[in-house]
Amino acid sequence: MNSRRAFLEHTLLGAITVGTLDFWNAIAEHTAAPPNGRLPVVIATWDNQKATDAAWQVLAKGGRALDAVEAGARIPEADPMDTSVGYGGFPDRDGNVTLDACIMDEFGKAGSVAFLQHILHPISVARRVMEKTPHVLLVGDGALEFALAEGFKKENLLTETARKAWEEWKIKSEYKPVINIERHDTIGIVAVDDQQRVSGACTTSGMAFKMRGRVGDSPIIGAGMFSDNEVGAAAATGLGEMVLRTLGSFLLVEEMRRGKHPMKAAETVVRRLAQKYPKEARENQVGYVAIDKKGRFGGFSLQPGFNYTVYQQGVNRVFEADSFFKK
Ligand code: GLY
Repeated sequence: MNSRRAFLEHTLLGAITVGTLDFWNAIAEHTAAPPNGRLPVVIATWDNQKATDAAWQVLAKGGRALDAVEAGARIPEADPMDTSVGYGGFPDRDGNVTLDACIMDEFGKAGSVAFLQHILHPISVARRVMEKTPHVLLVGDGALEFALAEGFKKENLLTETARKAWEEWKIKSEYKPVINIERHDTIGIVAVDDQQRVSGACTTSGMAFKMRGRVGDSPIIGAGMFSDNEVGAAAATGLGEMVLRTLGSFLLVEEMRRGKHPMKAAETVVRRLAQKYPKEARENQVGYVAIDKKGRFGGFSLQPGFNYTVYQQGVNRVFEADSFFKK
């Protein structure tokens, strides 16, 4: 075994044992591995191990990153316990569950839906928008009509738990986004497959008890998610209004294009937010995940408490993100 390989195997073992992010990224930084050395890889916001597992099932068979991120995003969409995505998502202040999602493929094509109601898998509708229409974004009733024409079923997405939470919320009717709500929020999931195809997806029911008609960052290409096959991909979670104003995912990919490691690129974008909006930044959470074409990954957030899931080299793990503000 040559000494370089021995070093890598030793450090990889150490990384698995110690499980620290610094360790992994130190390896990533110092590994001039062949481009495919650390592929495939998928990363998702928060502890979304079932989602990354679904994506990995596609990637491990040599499948396409696009199929992987769609498969991953569909997991929380169908989970009634997940109160910030799809079925079971908390409604707007009038009791309507309204969904936003977007997807991008390795050719730079994009599809998204916003303010969509009654459809279990908005991410799959977004994919159909990308693949079957001349448009990028369909909203509201138009998006619903398109979904129904495509064979999606109309469903009630308001669970009893979500309805009760809404009834309770109505007592005070105070709109106040909560930092790290249940350590779960929008899922952004981005992947590079073993042919170095890069894709990304993002799906959410948006901020709980938002105004009717409010759309966040998640369906906006470049805000909630951006993927560029030459570079890598990034996705956001947290307060959408802050992400929208800075087109954070696009900015993050551009920082990687300029040569930054995904971890540093994510930190740069979060620092920009903190500098530009100091008051809001202090009171809210925004987190980013990113991967580059080499399979290096990273995440960073405004507030402590953000975590993310990476499936790489057959291991599915959750990492605590470093943050701008400390505990
Ligand atoms: N990040 C999700 C939203 O603000 O809607």
